[in-house]
Amino acid sequence: AAAEKGGYDYFMLKEIAEQPGAVADTLLGHFQDGRIVLDEQRMSDQDLRDIDKVFIVACGSAYHSGMVAKYAIEHWTRLPCEVEIASEFRYRDPVLDRSTLVVAISQSGETADTLEAVRHAKTQKARVLAVCNTNGSQIPREADAVLYTHAGPEIGVASTKAYLAQITANYLVGLALAQARGTKYPDEVAAEFRQLERMPEDIQKVVDSLDPVRGIARELAGSKSVLFLGRHVGYPTALEGALKLKELAYMHAEGFPAGELKHGPIALIEEGMPVFIVMPPVEGRGVLHSKLVSNIQEIRARGARTIVIAEEGDEVARPLSDYFIPIPASTTLLQPLLATIPYQAFAAEVAAARGYDVDKPRNLAKSVTVE
Ligand code: G6P
Repeated sequence: AAAEKGGYDYFMLKEIAEQPGAVADTLLGHFQDGRIVLDEQRMSDQDLRDIDKVFIVACGSAYHSGMVAKYAIEHWTRLPCEVEIASEFRYRDPVLDRSTLVVAISQSGETADTLEAVRHAKTQKARVLAVCNTNGSQIPREADAVLYTHAGPEIGVASTKAYLAQITANYLVGLALAQARGTKYPDEVAAEFRQLERMPEDIQKVVDSLDPVRGIARELAGSKSVLFLGRHVGYPTALEGALKLKELAYMHAEGFPAGELKHGPIALIEEGMPVFIVMPPVEGRGVLHSKLVSNIQEIRARGARTIVIAEEGDEVARPLSDYFIPIPASTTLLQPLLATIPYQAFAAEVAAARGYDVDKPRNLAKSVTVE
């Protein structure tokens, strides 16, 4: 078993380290002569042009990957895009028709709630695209088209490499839609193309610099409760950070949009409470960066200990951080591929420090095939 883990104590640590390859393999073959080709996707450019609304359905981490996709798809394509937990979607009465694209995201391809959401979408005549990591599993079998993630088998119950591969595949869907339909922001979309292609190298840099994160985890392993804040795509990243900590370390954790702080969560802040924040790129979207600076100041004034993930050159965020975790520069929309990784390593290390089985957290299953 030790050999299977490639020298790591846990499969999860091995899978965190495999993320540059998981993303590279998911991108492989999809960039051809400056165009995105979704060859596994049985949908033509004409099909993509006929769509007037996108629904993303998924559970768990896959749902968080869908939240990231919503920001990208709406901006690049100006198509309305909703993202919903599969078990809520199917028992609501979502408005779908043949020009709706439903994207069902699932690592296993067997999650019962996501499968039922796919069936519900099909009875409403929507077109269903599966984003899936498991060849021949049920969700891609029932979908109209499939885009496979190539993360390889994931053993750790808490998703890591499959999650980054899902985010990557979702970007491919968004870029393919923008390409087929046209975009209001051709220069930006071209820059995202280039950034996405070189992401595996930047992910490698983050993976290679996780030791300080493990040190922080050991220091904070006794915490009662941890908050995660972010804005824009930093918000789903906050949710994923909190989910990882709940799943693995059995520690109370909440993710919030930073703008909601003053509407409740700020009341939770006590002296010394750890609060994680992802800073958007300095050169990013509008005023996001300065808004987060204000949020950090608000929580520091109330005694929080801030752990800030930010671009290595972010000299505004650095002095506001009790712990500063640098990541490479990227575009705002692609940043979750980098910013999520320290959260994975943090949760794994806290769990190990607390004496828990990182690969097999209590009460959880890798794939949930009952509703
Ligand atoms: C379970 C796993 C999670 C996963 C979720 C969705 O809860 O423990 O890690 O995110 O199922 O799984 P799927 O296979 O549909 O992506």
